[in-house]
Amino acid sequence: MRTDRWWFPPLITFVGLAAWVTYATVRVFMHKWYYVDEFHYLTPFYSPCITDRCVEGSAEFGTPLPSFWLIPEAAFTLPFLLLFRLTCYYYRKAYYRAFWLSPPACAVPDAHQKYSGETRFPLIFQNIHRYAFYAAGIISLINTWDAIRAFHSGNGFGFGLGNIVLVGNVVMLWLYTLSCHSCRHIAGGRLKHFSAHPVRYRFWTFVSKLNTRHMLLAWITLGTLALTDFYVMAVAADWFPDLRFVG
Ligand code: FES
Repeated sequence: MRTDRWWFPPLITFVGLAAWVTYATVRVFMHKWYYVDEFHYLTPFYSPCITDRCVEGSAEFGTPLPSFWLIPEAAFTLPFLLLFRLTCYYYRKAYYRAFWLSPPACAVPDAHQKYSGETRFPLIFQNIHRYAFYAAGIISLINTWDAIRAFHSGNGFGFGLGNIVLVGNVVMLWLYTLSCHSCRHIAGGRLKHFSAHPVRYRFWTFVSKLNTRHMLLAWITLGTLALTDFYVMAVAADWFPDLRFVG
């Protein structure tokens, strides 16, 4: 009986997520324009690069996988990143509403007859989110290494617009990862006396503040990931040069 535009937020969510997934899928299977050798810029969609196809200089951790087109260059990390985002508390809300219409909005009927919540197969697997969080932490470390390494251009220290883009993305990725609900629980959950654990309490307070912005950070990081990838692709493909400040 709602007469307001309740359908607008799920529609925007649907369009935004569908556009991002389409872009990311195309890029991951493009297998080119992911690394700028001159400035060591590697897109996060191909990090770490581990197939035989990886262009020279892009594979920091070896190339144990063959170059079959269905295998992404970042085959070790992409499945965990996908798992992390798919099981994220915010994204669950987003796609339950926008894609499954279950329910599409508050006080709007569910599009499905039955509802078993997340207590049975397959949605019971959403519980693995806390483990995906640990994997995401390791992947954020790898992305941080990529951003640091990019300050080393051919002749030593170098700094360009690409560095700002890479560092900005990594900072946002850390903020999103640390604002995770599982992270908040790991930091301060099950503690009976905060006064007996001052360090955990401080960290929990910090994470709790970030946690209130989790949805915003979820969308910002989708934007920074796509922007970073697009910038690296554009420079690698020679669509425009990197704006250099030093080196
Ligand atoms: Fe969103 Fe953990 S709840 S990343």
